Amino acid sequence: MKKLFLSLFVISFGIGISAQKSVAQKVSELLAKMTIEEKAGQLSQLNSDWEDLTGPILQKKDEDKVALIQQGKLGSVLNVRSVAQTRMLQEYAMKSRLKIPLLFGQDVIHGFRTSFPVNIGQAASWDLGLIEKSERIAATEASAFGIHWTFAPMVDISRDPRWGRVMEGSGEDTYLGSLIGVARVKGFQGKGLGNIDAVMATAKHFAAYGAAVGGRDYNSVDMSLRQLHEIYLPPFKAAAEAGVATFMNSFNDINGIPATGSKYLQRDLLKNKWGFKGFVVSDWGSVIEMVNHGFAKDKTDASLKAILAGSDMDMESRAYIESLPQLVKDGKVDIKIIDDAVRRVLTKKFELGLFDDPFKFCNDERQKQQTNNAEHRKFGREFGAKSVVLIKNETQILPLSKSTKTVALIGPFGKETVANHGFWSVPFNDDKERIITQFDGIKNQLDKSSTLLYAKGCNVDDQDRSMFEEAVETAKKADVVIMTLGEGHDMSGEAKSRSNIHFSGVQEELLKEIHKTGKPIILMINAGRPLVFDWASDNIPTIIYTWWLGTEAGNSIADVIFGTANPGGKLPMSFPRTEGQIPVYYNHYNTGRPAAKSTDRNYVSAYIDLDNDPKYPFGFGLSYTDFSYSDFKLSSESLTANQTLTVNVTITNKGNFDGEEVAQLYIRDLVGKVVRPVKELKGFQKIFLKKGESKTLTFKLSPESLKFYDDDLNYDWEEGEFDIMIGTNSNDVQTKRIYWRK
Ligand code: GLC
Repeated sequence: MKKLFLSLFVISFGIGISAQKSVAQKVSELLAKMTIEEKAGQLSQLNSDWEDLTGPILQKKDEDKVALIQQGKLGSVLNVRSVAQTRMLQEYAMKSRLKIPLLFGQDVIHGFRTSFPVNIGQAASWDLGLIEKSERIAATEASAFGIHWTFAPMVDISRDPRWGRVMEGSGEDTYLGSLIGVARVKGFQGKGLGNIDAVMATAKHFAAYGAAVGGRDYNSVDMSLRQLHEIYLPPFKAAAEAGVATFMNSFNDINGIPATGSKYLQRDLLKNKWGFKGFVVSDWGSVIEMVNHGFAKDKTDASLKAILAGSDMDMESRAYIESLPQLVKDGKVDIKIIDDAVRRVLTKKFELGLFDDPFKFCNDERQKQQTNNAEHRKFGREFGAKSVVLIKNETQILPLSKSTKTVALIGPFGKETVANHGFWSVPFNDDKERIITQFDGIKNQLDKSSTLLYAKGCNVDDQDRSMFEEAVETAKKADVVIMTLGEGHDMSGEAKSRSNIHFSGVQEELLKEIHKTGKPIILMINAGRPLVFDWASDNIPTIIYTWWLGTEAGNSIADVIFGTANPGGKLPMSFPRTEGQIPVYYNHYNTGRPAAKSTDRNYVSAYIDLDNDPKYPFGFGLSYTDFSYSDFKLSSESLTANQTLTVNVTITNKGNFDGEEVAQLYIRDLVGKVVRPVKELKGFQKIFLKKGESKTLTFKLSPESLKFYDDDLNYDWEEGEFDIMIGTNSNDVQTKRIYWRK
C-alpha cells in the first residue's frame, strides 16, 4: 500500500511540476517565436468604444484596432462587455500569426450587472464577508459577459474628502483599507485564475494617489518615505501578498517622479522586494502623460522611462506599440526587459486558460443567466442596507411606521434612477428600468392605505428656486417628510474633486424652507464622500447617510427607514466641520501643543474659529438600539516580547431592536523613536445581538501589531507604555494602559 501511495505521489508531483513547468516553458517557447512588434503589442491595451448592447457590436472606430489585433500587435482591449463583442474580437486574434488570445479588461468597481453600494459605502459596512461576496458576484457576472480582468480593487488611502475618488476607496484607515483590499482580491479571483467565474484583480493606483495636494485629482504627491510606507503602501502590499494578479500605477508624480516612471515603486519595491510576479498596467495614458509631467521629452522617451521603471503594459497611449521596437533596435532597451514584461502578461493569459480555450468566457447561456440574477439583487439589497450609517435619530422617529398616513419624499434624488448606480457602474441600456428608485422603494413598503407624495424641490446644483413652493405645499400635506439631498453620483469619482463639499445649489435653502413648516424631517444624504452639512447636523434630528447604494437602492433605503434593517454602518472617514479643516483624520500625531478639548483655541494646535474635532469621527455610526460596553479587561498590564495580549469586553444590546455593532480596538504607542499616532485601529469585530443579548468579545494583540517604520524605514516595535482602547467609534473609547517589554 505504502509503495502504491508513494508512486502515486511521485507521479502526481511530477505531473504538478510538469504542469507548472509547462506554463513557464510554453511562455518561453512562445516568446522565442515573437517579433519585437508582436511583443510590443502584448504590452499594449486599447480602449474599445462603448458598444450599444442591443445595437451593432462593432463601432466603426474600432477598425484600426481590429487590424492591430489581426496582426498580433494588440494584447488587450478594455471596455468591451458582452459575449458577442469579446467573441468577435477574439476571433480576429485567432487569425493572427501566433494566435495569442486577447485579454478583456473592465472597471468592475462596485458591481457589474447588479451594482452595489459605492465602495466608501461598502467600507461603512465594515463587513469583510459581504465585501468579498459582492466581488465574487461581480466576478461571476463580469466573466459571464466575457470579461477576464477588472481594474479593481482601488486601495488608495485618502484623508481628503475634496478628492472625488474617495468614493471608490475604503476611507482613511490603513488597517481597514488593507483588510478590505484583500477581501476584494479574494472575491474577484475566487478559487483562482482559470476558474470560469474568476477574473484577474488589480491593485490600484500605485501609489499614494489619494494624497494629491489639495485633494485635486491628478495633482502631485509629496511625502516622506516613512509616511508612504506607514499609511499608503500597506494595502498594496497586502493585496500583493493575497495574490492579486496585476497592479495599476497612478497618474500622480510622487516625490518628483511620476509613478509610471518610478523604478523605486515598480521594480525595487513591488517586483524585487515584495516578489510580485504579475504585471503592472499603466493608468490610461499615464505613459504619455510623463511628457506633460516634464519627466519625458516625447512619446519615445516616455516609453523608455516607463518600461525601464517596470510599467509592463501601456493602456491607451499607443506609446509602446509605436516606440518599443525602435528602442530595442537602437539598443536603448535590452530585449530582456521587454521579455520579462511579456512573460508576465503571457503567464496570466495561460493561467486564465485562454490558450487552452480563447473562447472559454464567451458563453451566451452564462451571459443570459447573469443578466438579471434575482439572488444577486437580493444580496445587493441587503448589502445596501448594511452600508447605511445612522448619523442622528434624536426623536426616535426612525424606524418609521409603515402605516404613517402621509409621507412626503422631497429632494432632487427621490425619483432618480441612474444616480443610485454610482459613478463607476457599468452602463447598460436597461439600467433605468432595473434600478429601484428611492420613491419606489418607499412606496413598495408603505401600507396601501398610506399616501406617498413627491416633490423634487430643487435641482442638484443650480440656483433654481422655482420648485420650492410646490415642495413646501407638499410638505404641509404630510405627517412626515423624508428629504433626499446630497451630491449627484457624477459629482464624486474620477476627476470630480470639489473645493466646496457642502450641499450644492440651493439644497440647503430648500431644507430650511421645509424645516420652517415644522413637519418632522428625516434627512437622507446621498453622496460618494463625506459632505459638510453643519446646519442640517445642528437642526435636523434624524439623518441617515445613504451614499449611493446601487441597483436595489430604493429597497435598501426603505428597509432601513421602516426598520426591516437596523442600520449598523460606521464611517470609514472622518467628516470635517468645514473644508478649511481638511485634512482631519483620527490617527493624527499629538503635536507639542495638543488641544485637550475640541473647544481649546489659544496656543494649541487648533483653529481660533473652529472646534478641533471632526463633525463626525472615524468609526462613528448609531443604531436603532443601544449598545453598552462593560467588563473591559486585559490579560495583563505588563507583557514580554513573546506574549500575546488578550482583550475582553462585553457588549450588551440594551435597546428595543436587534442590531449589529462594530466594536473597535485601538492602540496608542505613548513614546517612540518617531512620534506615533494618538490612535491606531488594530482590530474590530462586527457582531449581531438580539435585544437584551450580551456577548463577550475577545481580541488578541501581539508585538506584530505594535510595529511601525522608523526614520530609517526599519519596521519594528519598541518596548514601552501603550494605551489599549475599545469602543464604538474612534472618539468614544475606554482606555487601559500596559507596559510591553522587549
Ligand atoms: C481611469 C482610472 C482608472 C481606470 C482606468 C481605465 O483613468 O484612473 O482607475 O481603471 O482609467 O478605465
